[in-house]
Amino acid sequence: MGIEQKLAAGAENPAPQRAKFREMKDGTAEDWALIAGHFRTFAGGVAGRVLEHLRLLDGDFGGFPVDRLEHSLQTATRAYRDGRDEQYVVMALLHDIGDTLGSFNHPDVAAAILKPFVREELHWICQHHGHFQGYYYFHYLGMDRESREQFRGSPHFEACAEFCEKYDQAAFDPDYQSESLEFFEPMVHRVMARPLATLYSLGEPEDAPADTAEGAE
Ligand SMILES: [Fe+2]
Ligand SMILES: [Fe+2]
Repeated sequence: MGIEQKLAAGAENPAPQRAKFREMKDGTAEDWALIAGHFRTFAGGVAGRVLEHLRLLDGDFGGFPVDRLEHSLQTATRAYRDGRDEQYVVMALLHDIGDTLGSFNHPDVAAAILKPFVREELHWICQHHGHFQGYYYFHYLGMDRESREQFRGSPHFEACAEFCEKYDQAAFDPDYQSESLEFFEPMVHRVMARPLATLYSLGEPEDAPADTAEGAE
């Protein structure tokens, strides 16, 4: 490659810019403008990363009649076919995504991922579904199937019980014709395109569609 070609390539692919501080307390406005720019691009890819992680559940049966990806697809498909809105369907799809990293508290992991993007009721359902799902099997393992009763006073109790009864506990049928993950991907991208609330107000991800609060109540 000649010198002119190298210069041209360098202009197209300049060395990555990095903040100059070695300790955060020495940071400058210039450093943080640079980091904020990167954050907007990175945060815009969250839906893609979540979908990639969801695929880790493929082939993970854990003794169940269907693997965890099929269970997720089946839960979401049942909610979708029952006329639930997009935020609800995405919550249903992702409700067990925490199984890989949060084997002892998987509802917390999924709820934390969903929290900025769904209404409070759906966050609550996701975070508490472990107790409510336990109604269907805790008694077989020496645990209290009435564990969900501690939440009886919550305004979301019935909604969570309904999620588990209609969709979650019902989603272990190997013969059910679920929609594919590809079917749900655009919904995940729409719901996760823009946070409804976040601590980090560094601007919106680029290319975020204008209307992403679809389905919010
Ligand atoms: Fe679960
Ligand atoms: Fe589940």
